[in-house]
Amino acid sequence: MKTYLVTGGAGFIGSNYIHYMFKKYGDGIRIINVDALTYAGNPENLKEVEDRENYTFIKADICDKEAIARIFAENEIDRVVHFAAESHVDRSIRNPEIFVQTNVLGTAVMLNCAKAAWELPDGSFREDKKFLHVSTDEVYGSLEEDGGYFYETTPYAPRSPYSASKAGSDMLVKAYMDTYHFPANITNCSNNYGPYQFPEKLIPLIIHNALNGKKLPVYGDGKNVRDWLYVEDHAKAIDMVQEKGRLFETYNVGGHNEKQNIEIIKIILETLQEMLPENDPRKALVSEDLITYVEDRKGHDRRYAIAPDKIREEIGWEPETMFKEGIRRTIEWYFAHEEWMAHVTSGDYQKYYEEMYTV
Ligand code: NAD
Ligand code: TYD
Repeated sequence: MKTYLVTGGAGFIGSNYIHYMFKKYGDGIRIINVDALTYAGNPENLKEVEDRENYTFIKADICDKEAIARIFAENEIDRVVHFAAESHVDRSIRNPEIFVQTNVLGTAVMLNCAKAAWELPDGSFREDKKFLHVSTDEVYGSLEEDGGYFYETTPYAPRSPYSASKAGSDMLVKAYMDTYHFPANITNCSNNYGPYQFPEKLIPLIIHNALNGKKLPVYGDGKNVRDWLYVEDHAKAIDMVQEKGRLFETYNVGGHNEKQNIEIIKIILETLQEMLPENDPRKALVSEDLITYVEDRKGHDRRYAIAPDKIREEIGWEPETMFKEGIRRTIEWYFAHEEWMAHVTSGDYQKYYEEMYTV
């Protein structure tokens, strides 16, 4: 039975990954989730699995060398899936240092501890040990509107403190693979959406604001393009890369689902209108009149678009959830989890929202 060490498993993608893995493997795997529980980490995301015998939660910071080394010493770890990171571009523009700390130094600690635990005296590594570093397409920079895609061979050109810190972490993983032959993979994925996403990110923010009749802030001209992937498809890709991918390789993961931000907002509004029952008082609040153009994000990347050819050809992964279906499933989840939303939008979130948005 394999033991997975998942970092950042209380966040958006990490918690979806843990749910996916238990659905797929049941009692056939063990998961240890290490998370510092920053504002983005929420134990409520894992309520359904917390009583499982084959699940353990450890509250620890990935920058804490002793704590991470202890976890490796006390457990026979077979797989590391490294999600933990500061993940929001707007926050990185306001406070870049924590991004360097967690994303770069934290990744260095994870690599070093895994290497120390898995390396044999002759410098080779124990059999069937694997580290997967979860990264983003934002490391490749910004594409023009009129075409072009990110391939695994596209040179890195990060433009925000977030993407620069993720690029730094990717480079460290590459350096470990090149220097020590450390058994790892990197995945660079496009924008995710789905259940448990914190409402500082575009899609849950728009759903939440629209249902509350609050303004819908659109940065700049609203024509920036992102390539949206349903989060469960990402979780599946991570598992497939770790089990079927070639070691030392990078795989781009994307949905071939490019949309302008303004299109996303209009689709959410239409879908909310379709899904809300006639007698629901929120139906009257959901309206395009809420759309409010605001000052653009500093250094706003224009377009991201992934070419997922390599992962499809080598591993057979393809996105399964069409956007129309994925957005309905996401909205249904937010309808059914009003309490979750109420908890995460109280306290610190309120303060963040007031500082960030003047609309
Ligand atoms: P998130 O912000 O929702 O979750 C991050 C998690 O990491 C939280 O649970 C947080 O508590 C934890 N964490 C933060 N700092 C930590 C530290 N120092 N020690 C331990 N835990 C810490 O992020 P997400 O959207 O789930 O993203 C997860 C990973 O996927 C990140 O590495 C991100 O760069 C990458 N990624 C995200 C997207 C996306 O669209 N969200 C797309 C591609 C790649
Ligand atoms: P976001 O969800 O923050 O993801 P990322 O910046 O990592 O792609 O933003 C997605 C897009 O939506 C991005 O172009 C910025 C834009 N955006 C808005 O227009 N308004 C908002 O309030 C937010 C949060 C994002």
